Amino acid sequence: MTDAAPPVVRPRRSCLAVPGSNPRFLEKAQGLPADMVFLDLEDACAPAAKEGARALVVKALNEGDWGDRVRAVRVNDWTTHWTYRDVITVVEGAGDRLDCLLLPKTQDAQQVVALDLLLTQIERTMGLPVGRIGIEAQLENARGLLNVEEIAAASPRLQTLVFGPADFMASIRMRTLVVGEQPPGYPADAYHHILMRILLAARAHDLQAIDGPYLQIRDADGFRAAAGRSAALGFDGKWVLHPDQIELANEIYAPSQEDYDHAELILDAYAHATSVAGGARGAVMLGEEMIDEASRKMALVVAGQGRAAGL
Ligand code: GLV
Ligand code: MG
Repeated sequence: MTDAAPPVVRPRRSCLAVPGSNPRFLEKAQGLPADMVFLDLEDACAPAAKEGARALVVKALNEGDWGDRVRAVRVNDWTTHWTYRDVITVVEGAGDRLDCLLLPKTQDAQQVVALDLLLTQIERTMGLPVGRIGIEAQLENARGLLNVEEIAAASPRLQTLVFGPADFMASIRMRTLVVGEQPPGYPADAYHHILMRILLAARAHDLQAIDGPYLQIRDADGFRAAAGRSAALGFDGKWVLHPDQIELANEIYAPSQEDYDHAELILDAYAHATSVAGGARGAVMLGEEMIDEASRKMALVVAGQGRAAGL
């Protein structure tokens, strides 16, 4: 048994939405400490602004200083007439500066496959490495959630599954108008089932699971509560709509220093016990705590998240 280094994935604790039609926000976003930015051609852009936004997004990707954060563009969904030109314009114009395309309102595996095929053709045409640009699938309606397992398996380009609570709540006719909050009158957590399904599909296919936005941007406590719930389940991060939400997300989706230190202690203790035993062994004691191979795996997760967060 070896203590292999925890898998290093690019953190997406805070995923900042930036309207693609707003040059000021496109500029400002570059200086903010979000793990990921997505330049939005979908719902943050009015229909009349969408075509102009494509050029602004290409320019911002090519000329902006985005550091090493994950750079994505959210295209319009396949039920509109905008999707193919969004993809072609952005990838032909700035494909080498782009990490992912985010596909909203994903309903089934075919929609992911269609995007994968289009990306492959553009990459070949432009001489870009085939398959490098990833896909994030956003689950925002009942059909998408029912098909989440086949969506998660649809393409090797997939990197994340993302929850879209506003559209989702509208899709199932949940009786609330406050996005990310519990619907009044329901005594339990109305999001538990949805988040768990997304999380399980993501983990079964080695994808990251990302929670959606919380629209009360001045309500830090509300954000903490909503983010805390999905972080506790195992989600990797959350969308943020305002600079004030970034640090909160970065903190909430990283382990606490105490948990991180404890995880490293478990890994050290288990590695030490294993080497003394000259190979694999069962449970060992760490102080009053019994640890075994399953504890080691849990510790590996927390240590991986902590190392990625620079703890
Ligand atoms: C995000 O796109 C949402 O619908 O919540
Ligand atoms: Mg949406």
